[in-house]
Amino acid sequence: NLHELIDRLHKEHTLTRGEFITLIKERDEENASYLASLAREEAVKIYGNGVFPRGLVEFTNYCKNNCYYCGIQGSNQYANRYRLSKDEILSACENGYQLGYRSFVLQGGEDPHYSDDVMVPIVSQIRKRYQDCAITLSLGERSKESYQKLYDAGADRYLLRHEAATPELYQKLHPESLSLENRIQCLWNLKEIGYAVGTGFMVGAPYQTVENLVDDLLFIQKLDPQMVGIGPFVPHHDTKFKDYPSGTVELTTYLTSILRLMNPHLLLPATTALGTIDPRGREKGILAGANVVMPNLSPVAVRKDYSLYDNKICTGEEAAECAGCLGRRLASIDYELVFTRGDYIE
Ligand code: 5AD
Ligand code: FES
Repeated sequence: NLHELIDRLHKEHTLTRGEFITLIKERDEENASYLASLAREEAVKIYGNGVFPRGLVEFTNYCKNNCYYCGIQGSNQYANRYRLSKDEILSACENGYQLGYRSFVLQGGEDPHYSDDVMVPIVSQIRKRYQDCAITLSLGERSKESYQKLYDAGADRYLLRHEAATPELYQKLHPESLSLENRIQCLWNLKEIGYAVGTGFMVGAPYQTVENLVDDLLFIQKLDPQMVGIGPFVPHHDTKFKDYPSGTVELTTYLTSILRLMNPHLLLPATTALGTIDPRGREKGILAGANVVMPNLSPVAVRKDYSLYDNKICTGEEAAECAGCLGRRLASIDYELVFTRGDYIE
């Protein structure tokens, strides 16, 4: 009986592998709304009715990798490539700071141009200017030494989705140059250094099964990260997965609620991908237990080029000010943006 499984997950924060499989396979609308109400309640108990905004600066869409799902993979000849200079990155942060943001995420493809010699001064400068802000990096796989240098320069947090915890699925989504083993090693290195770590995966990726999703949940349980980003897979027209269907809001929000009950303290974003497949996707994510949003702070001129998947929202002129837009959206469901660092509460 699913209701009982949900109650036990709520109390004990975990289930057996077989029970997780049942919880996902046998889900229905009634149990999903029960699960969501418990998830929401847990989030409110720890973080209140607030949602933390993270200002996202997408500073390069060059990438040396070729993840099969991703629109900015290096081999995509049609991507219009850009790099932001140190000054452009700093002015995106300044603009965000003036709007009230106290948490920034610098994200990019794996672009060798941003070596430690380039990246460290950027991070130190942001740290020096904005001492009351959290600095999150999302730059993909680097050496432990590099992660350490960036941490010493003032970065606090690092986002690196594991993408798929089942080796066979990981290999179907990535070329042989990438390995799950290295990915996981990077995550443990980041934790050891002292970063608050975020991982995550796509929901509804090609070839993904319920068993794979349970592997993801169990991997996350073992890693015990501070943040988990999940969003639906959305096809990109220049990739070999262009004809695969998107993931669903329904399964993404259901998994969000499960993650919230597994660790009530998690920082869980209602992702841009979720807002892309449904105009109210992010609101639905919050109502399922998410408590973070990531408004875009990138210069409007480059936004459409950071195209990981098709139809990404927040790329037009009208999206110059995402925080205002998100604030109104959250108000419609009786939540509000809270402009603090939004640290993980132990
Ligand atoms: N659909 C949804 N999410 C995607 N990402 C990359 N490509 C896609 C896509 N086609 C996600 C990956 C990556 C994050 C930055 O964006 O999970 O970690
Ligand atoms: Fe970016 Fe609405 S949040 S346009």
